[in-house]
Amino acid sequence: MQLDVFTLVPHAFAWMTEQRPIATVLGSELDLRLYSFRDHTPLRSGQVDDEPYGGGAGMVLRVDVVAAALDQVYGDTPPRRVIALTPQGRSLTQDIVEELVEEPHIALLTSRFEGFDERIVRNLATDAISIGPYVLSNGDLPAMVLVDAIARRLPGALSEGSGEFESFSKELDGGLEYPHYTRPAEFRGWHVPDVLLSGDHARIERWRKEHVR
Ligand SMILES: C[S@@+](CC[C@H](N)C(=O)[O-])C[C@H]1O[C@@H](n2cnc3c(N)ncnc32)[C@H](O)[C@@H]1O
Repeated sequence: MQLDVFTLVPHAFAWMTEQRPIATVLGSELDLRLYSFRDHTPLRSGQVDDEPYGGGAGMVLRVDVVAAALDQVYGDTPPRRVIALTPQGRSLTQDIVEELVEEPHIALLTSRFEGFDERIVRNLATDAISIGPYVLSNGDLPAMVLVDAIARRLPGALSEGSGEFESFSKELDGGLEYPHYTRPAEFRGWHVPDVLLSGDHARIERWRKEHVR
């Protein structure tokens, strides 16, 4: 899959590319490309935003800047999914992640300050996604959330088995995963459930099913 992120701070994504699972799939299942709006702006001095019509605080990402970036990168063939990260978008769920994992090519648009000129969301993007009902300072963290959520679902990203019985998965009927414990078996009087120490795999499996929340 090719994932393209349009941002004002491409360098902010560097740490992600060094961490698993993204590092594991980079260059094979995942091609992550980072584009700076400033490198593509047709305006002078790297300008990318402007004051809002009608007045008010903050700066708004300009539609001509985003259009120029998309045109320069894709010409006439943009990806089928161009996603604007915005609090006004539909709320991200695991079902949306699973849907996006099937796409061969996705572009993510991020903004800062007051946000996007609405014409970007309506005319240049195909989707708008919010990562939750709260406001962050920029779209870079939401883009990172989406990159991570998608990357870990790509083939080979996780060690075998660890991505199957997860919260929100079909295997758990969309529920939350059962609790996990590790050594020590007792700490400050807090005990690991006996069944998990029993070595009886059938009982352990039953216990886990019962504890899906
Ligand atoms: C400070 S926010 C703009 C908030 C906007 N003025 C509002 O009230 O809805 C700047 C940018 O951060 C990103 N952003 C902030 N919160 C987000 C969220 N919950 N989901 C997705 N993107 C978000 C978006 O790209 C947004 O344009």
